[in-house]
Amino acid sequence: MQPRQGRPSHGDGRHSAPDPDGSDTYRFPVVAYGESDRVHRHPDRASAWSEESTSAETVAFRRPAESPEGAPSTSNSVVADNLVKRFGDFTAVDGISFTVPTGSVLGLLGPNGAGKTTTVNMLCTLLTPDGGTATIAGHDVVRDRADVRKSIMLTGQFAALDEALTGRENLILFGRLMGLSPKGARARADELLEAFDLTKAASRRVGKFSGGMRRRIDIACGLVVRPEVVFLDEPTTGLDPRSRQDVWDIVSSLSRLHITTLLTTQYLEEADLLSDRIVVIDKGRVIAEGTADELKAQVAGTFCEIVPTSPADLPRLQDALAGLAAEDQIRVDLTRNSLTVPAAGTDVLVEVVRRTDIAGIALSDVGLRRPSLDDVFLELTDRPADAGTE
Ligand SMILES: Nc1ncnc2c1ncn2[C@@H]1O[C@H](COP(=O)(O)OP(=O)(O)OP(=O)(O)O)[C@@H](O)[C@H]1O
Ligand SMILES: [Mg+2]
Repeated sequence: MQPRQGRPSHGDGRHSAPDPDGSDTYRFPVVAYGESDRVHRHPDRASAWSEESTSAETVAFRRPAESPEGAPSTSNSVVADNLVKRFGDFTAVDGISFTVPTGSVLGLLGPNGAGKTTTVNMLCTLLTPDGGTATIAGHDVVRDRADVRKSIMLTGQFAALDEALTGRENLILFGRLMGLSPKGARARADELLEAFDLTKAASRRVGKFSGGMRRRIDIACGLVVRPEVVFLDEPTTGLDPRSRQDVWDIVSSLSRLHITTLLTTQYLEEADLLSDRIVVIDKGRVIAEGTADELKAQVAGTFCEIVPTSPADLPRLQDALAGLAAEDQIRVDLTRNSLTVPAAGTDVLVEVVRRTDIAGIALSDVGLRRPSLDDVFLELTDRPADAGTE
């Protein structure tokens, strides 16, 4: 699914000039969020919006700052401050703090049981924190629950759809629940079905949808009315690679639409690919945070990996490279039949090639490598929780 690009308009037929950076010109071909009254303006055209996606009646998603819904403008759409949640004697979330700047995507990364869903549920008002505070779009999750709920969309770890209804009926139901007129809800449903590539499956019962289609319709239901913050709790768990790619496309679209997104995942490549920033949690605590690059740099720097053509040459290779780094820093990886040496720059690579050439050791591969996010994750989550960065 790729939202189409078009000229944004103000909802009154006036088109604004294209935004120079283009970032708010992406839209679904549909009436604007927060403009449900517009649904009534051209009732005879409601069913024809798909064809009229470039008409003056279609309105772009707007940046949150321009939103008229009364939400206070804030540079951080999500602020979690020392959140705590206990279940009996067990502390599932133990003082978690982070912020999500408006319009950005935060990846909340952690292994099973780390406290991701519990954190998300507190932010979405489904659980009351036992300690700390949090605001969503400026609304306190305890004092202003109703306003928080109006500002968010939550897609849970398990899709919450009515299995007996078709995809289209589910969307219409959500539209009606969100206050759209019957015609508006139908039109919005059709637009979202098209945007999410589900038109062909629109009249099938959701109970017969594949996991990927179910996930897409679930997310589409949450977008019937423009949310300030989207929470996606492990949106790709259990999906095949193609369906996972579909969800990734949706998250990228949300980002282009400047919708603040908090995504939980156990998949490092997903956090790396989709998030502007990553918060790693384990055992209910934040153990690291930053961009994927910052996290990689935090754990280990660049290294040189050398693979001899014959694994039998590994001991000779080790001797040849002695002194290039401290002895315990020159490591043999028997699964890859390779040897690694820390390497701040290309000088080490040149020296490795020179020494192996002199020693007459044939190499099948040699190069500078950066640690993967997997390396970071394993190293961080191996540590005891109280040895983290807090
Ligand atoms: N209602 C509950 N009652 C008791 N313990 C709970 C409850 N909900 C969660 N927990 C516990 O709190 C911890 C954190 O759970 P949570 O569901 O937040 O983890 P998660 O990071 O979302 O894990 P996963 O990746 O498996 O979804 C776990 O040990 C879990 O067993
Ligand atoms: Mg979870």
